[in-house]
Amino acid sequence: MEIINIAIDGPAGAGKSTIAKTIAKKLNIIYIDTGAMYRAFGLYCIRNNISSDSNEINNILDDIDISIYHVNGEQQVILNNENVNEFIRDEEVGKMASEISVNKNVRLKLVELQRKLATKESIVMDGRDIGTYVLPNATIKIYLNANVETRAIRRHKELQDKGIIKQLELVKEEIKQRDYRDMNRDFAPLTKAENAIEIDTSNLTINQVVDKIINYIQEFTEI
Ligand code: DC
Repeated sequence: MEIINIAIDGPAGAGKSTIAKTIAKKLNIIYIDTGAMYRAFGLYCIRNNISSDSNEINNILDDIDISIYHVNGEQQVILNNENVNEFIRDEEVGKMASEISVNKNVRLKLVELQRKLATKESIVMDGRDIGTYVLPNATIKIYLNANVETRAIRRHKELQDKGIIKQLELVKEEIKQRDYRDMNRDFAPLTKAENAIEIDTSNLTINQVVDKIINYIQEFTEI
């Protein structure tokens, strides 16, 4: 059967991972969360007191081995033989992931793994540069967006659900900073691929977005 690659990109809080995961389940294909790989890299740096300074990062590239596998459809990230899934969701790790992802060598290392995974079987992959750089020939490219207020409210609620109290304005400021860094780095920044369809999720439910994307996939593929 033909291998299908579905690339989903967009800024933090646009709904990428929830939507990509749901689509993968509906189509019975694998979901690959590339942000989790950058987060695992960031976690290594935090644990080992390594700053995002490029000289420091370039010196430790070979000390880091990141791989993934799936258990019941859930991606597990392995950092140097340790499953780090439960440690990579903190805000601090997300911020570090965004900082170290500016480094071209970090990106090349993780992109190599991502491209290999996409050749093996049909996948939905989400991130910041999937349609533009990692899989430029992806079968379907989606760019998910939402206004910054909506994304901040979503992130604020996620934090509240975890028992973390933070002012909405601060969450919004952090999202703006993350957007700026992810969109303005020199190498493979976050941007909509020319041939991606853009969906603004601000006023849509998860199911509405999923249905739109599934219809689009079915229109263009045999899946
Ligand atoms: O999607 P996320 O919040 O888990 O991603 C964390 C950071 O990792 C994000 O701010 C930028 C970086 N990232 C990237 O540069 N390229 C990707 N394909 C995925 C994530």
